[in-house]
Amino acid sequence: MEKMDWKNLSFGYIKTDYNVRCYFRDGRWGEIETCSEETIPLHMAAVCLHYGQEAFEGMKAYRCPDGHVRVFRTEENAARLQSTSRGIVMPEVPTELFNEMIDRVIRLNERWIPPYESGATLYIRPLLIGTSAQVGVHPSREYLFMIFVTPVGPYFKGGFATNPYVITRDYDRSAPLGTGCYKVGGNYAASLKANQWAHEQGYSCEFYLDAKEKKYIDECGAANFFGIKDNTYVTPLSTSILPSVTNKSLMQLAEDLGMKVERRQIPLEELDTFEEAGACGTAAVISPIERIDDPETGKSYVFSKDGKPGPISTKLFNKLIAIQYGIEPDTHGWTRIVL
Ligand code: PLP
Ligand code: COI
Repeated sequence: MEKMDWKNLSFGYIKTDYNVRCYFRDGRWGEIETCSEETIPLHMAAVCLHYGQEAFEGMKAYRCPDGHVRVFRTEENAARLQSTSRGIVMPEVPTELFNEMIDRVIRLNERWIPPYESGATLYIRPLLIGTSAQVGVHPSREYLFMIFVTPVGPYFKGGFATNPYVITRDYDRSAPLGTGCYKVGGNYAASLKANQWAHEQGYSCEFYLDAKEKKYIDECGAANFFGIKDNTYVTPLSTSILPSVTNKSLMQLAEDLGMKVERRQIPLEELDTFEEAGACGTAAVISPIERIDDPETGKSYVFSKDGKPGPISTKLFNKLIAIQYGIEPDTHGWTRIVL
């Protein structure tokens, strides 16, 4: 193995040794297979390629200072994948199978788990695809569920640092009764143009309002939004956002810290009242928001005047990663030791 520069990894893809696969045929899941091949044999008429019948998940494995390797709330990701499966008519991957495959793929790729000091992690990417060959628009009969892993660094360059966002009104990533609450590739395809436009304008990421009225906060790119004011953690309630495991955990930690938690519609104007704001997700953990610009009105909602993360976002971030790395007691039973 070449010497890895663990400290300077990007959020990219690096080949590891093994992935694990399981096929759904004749109405049932088969045995778990270990594979060292990075490619998948796929029929050109496979449903996933044409009609987007595919879903994915994302988690991390953490090499901890006590020498163990931990994963975080993987049952929540299993449940979300099951919800996605129901949403786009795919068979559900049972939680036990999901966890067994995660544990196996991590153990098989142990040498690819970055050291604690590097700040990098092993990203875990489950993928479920409809593989049957057909041209009619119907659910596939057969499926492949696989999990690969790859070492990753921070999602945004600079890690835990503030970023500027821009409101997009010209593109929606998902519709109120669409697939935004599911982790399907189509939502990400729908976001590529807005993301490219935001980057061209010099922003880190695009910021979405609700697709129907453009009145309420939806998501920050591929992450959930939260705002902090008056010792309260406020996060949007919307049918078109992905239920984030990170956000769910932060809501609990905010409560543990004695804060109030509100999950409700957030009108755009309310952005003016937040003392801090952040984007949250597995990849970035918390990405504090410096400001959100609205090109239509010329208004800039500024959350960080000095460009630094706010005190409550910093506290929540430190608390969450301390649990993930087994440094603080895991009072909610969120982590599982894999190695
Ligand atoms: N929102 C979207 C659209 C995402 O892709 C993700 C990433 O999975 C999140 C939010 C954050 O979810 P989680 O915290 O479960 O990673
Ligand atoms: C996240 O983990 O927060 C993500 O948004 C994953 C992304 C790479 C799709």
